[in-house]
Amino acid sequence: MNAHRIIVSTAIIGLLSLVSACNWDKSTPGYVYMDDMFSSPSLEAYEPSDRFADGLSSRKPVAGTVARGEVLYGLPNTNEGYEASKGNTEVPAFYASMNADDGKVLYNQFCSHCHGEKGDGNGILMQREKILGVPGYDKTRLPDITPGSTYHVIMYGKNNMGAHASQLNYEERWKIIKYVFGMRDGQQEVSVPTMDSSATAVKQ
Ligand code: HEC
Repeated sequence: MNAHRIIVSTAIIGLLSLVSACNWDKSTPGYVYMDDMFSSPSLEAYEPSDRFADGLSSRKPVAGTVARGEVLYGLPNTNEGYEASKGNTEVPAFYASMNADDGKVLYNQFCSHCHGEKGDGNGILMQREKILGVPGYDKTRLPDITPGSTYHVIMYGKNNMGAHASQLNYEERWKIIKYVFGMRDGQQEVSVPTMDSSATAVKQ
């Protein structure tokens, strides 16, 4: 046997063993040593399952689970909870040193379409009468809101205003509140806006 033949036959044997090692039928693993590695017991999200009593494979987090970074809110969504929130008990220490302008972008994304870019209650949805009864943040219309009560309203919503808790994380909520109170403090003379957007004599 010369060298050429050795090379050719080694290549053929090698190729054959490579091809024969392939298992084209994906449903059977062939010879398995650790069965669980091949047929893993995991389920697709919407696959039915008899493992749980409700027949679903998707599970909700166990009640009381706290997501990483989540800050629990102690006051309930009741009138009493709202009144208690005015006491500012939940305001974090870092609020005092926050920069009011940090919340501007977030405010314009989440609040200004109702409350207006200047916080005068005259956002685009109010101008187009898509929503009614949005207050400006001035002391005439909202004499006793506090950062704490604003947090409460962001968490749970209030009448026509929906809850924003799921859209904003803990820090983002406080950033917005700082910005809102910055606008509120800068508001000197306020007249209640009318539905006619040309007649919004609001000086801020
Ligand atoms: C869909 C329109 C809408 C959006 C968006 C919205 N609000 Fe409101 N907001 C309202 C309405 C309507 C009220 C009046 C609720 C009431 O007292 O009936 C209100 C009330 C408030 C009040 C006064 C609550 C009180 O104690 O009387 C605050 C503060 C406030 N909103 C802050 C915010 C902030 C901050 C955001 C953004 C995160 C926001 N709102 C987004 C419609 C909206």
